[in-house]
Amino acid sequence: MKVIVPASQGILAYPISRKTGIQLGYAELEKLPDGEKYVRIPENVEGKQVYIVNSFAHIPDELIIETLFLIDTFKELGAEKVIGIFPYFPYSRLMRRFIRGEAAKLKSIAKLFKVAGLDKMYVVDFHQRNFDEIFDFEVVDITAMHLLAEYARENFELKSPFVVGADEVAEYWAEIVANELDSEYALMRKIRIDAENVIVDSVPEEVVNKDVIIVDDIISTGGTVVQAVKALKAAGARRIYAACTHPALSNEALKMIYHAGIDGIVGTDTVLSPISHVSVADLISDSILQS
Ligand code: R5P
Repeated sequence: MKVIVPASQGILAYPISRKTGIQLGYAELEKLPDGEKYVRIPENVEGKQVYIVNSFAHIPDELIIETLFLIDTFKELGAEKVIGIFPYFPYSRLMRRFIRGEAAKLKSIAKLFKVAGLDKMYVVDFHQRNFDEIFDFEVVDITAMHLLAEYARENFELKSPFVVGADEVAEYWAEIVANELDSEYALMRKIRIDAENVIVDSVPEEVVNKDVIIVDDIISTGGTVVQAVKALKAAGARRIYAACTHPALSNEALKMIYHAGIDGIVGTDTVLSPISHVSVADLISDSILQS
């Protein structure tokens, strides 16, 4: 017996439940006046396989605590297995200690989820590829890049497309989009100054007179895309678009990107935003049905 439970950012539980036939469950979730979280599972989950759906955008710490309470409570109430569906996973860009004494936050979260009793999780375009070194449970990583490429083909003016990966990490995704669009790809080079500021050091010279799609997993402050648009324009690109899986879009990110002169931008519904035109619900459902 399986049940799928939406948490605070768990809207995808509804289409996934419909597509997979997994029964929809319910958790009572409330933020108390003092800022603490109230979590209650009203139904009997004994012996059941429970899927918790939560993305972790904008208020990651609060949602991580909520998810820990859910995992732990489901296990305490006798759930046979607890499986996370976490389309947007926070702290994924910080898997190790870069500066002496810094918290290796992703590893801390991995340990906490394991101790709470998480058996497996589904993620979408996770920033790191070396799951085994980070998580002590099964991880299924699903890519949305084929769908983003399909959206780009149908909605962007791509007479002469060229894909630009936002950095070395983005090569994996840029290659998928380029293959789908039957185009070439290359990577730009960026140097991160701080959380909000990046310098785009170089863009590929092949972009002259091309319709360029910048491909990245996350758009957060928008700093990367803004600087990329400027550098690509200066380098002679024709139209410039951006596609990302997770439109985390903090503060004025989208406004800054439009101001920079982008011709179109798309993201998925791992994070709900004004550019979430592609849904990952079917991808996750298919992956669950296949396992
Ligand atoms: C970094 O390695 C990621 O792949 C993205 O390039 C980064 O998260 C984008 O962040 P921002 O929009 O803040 O420049």
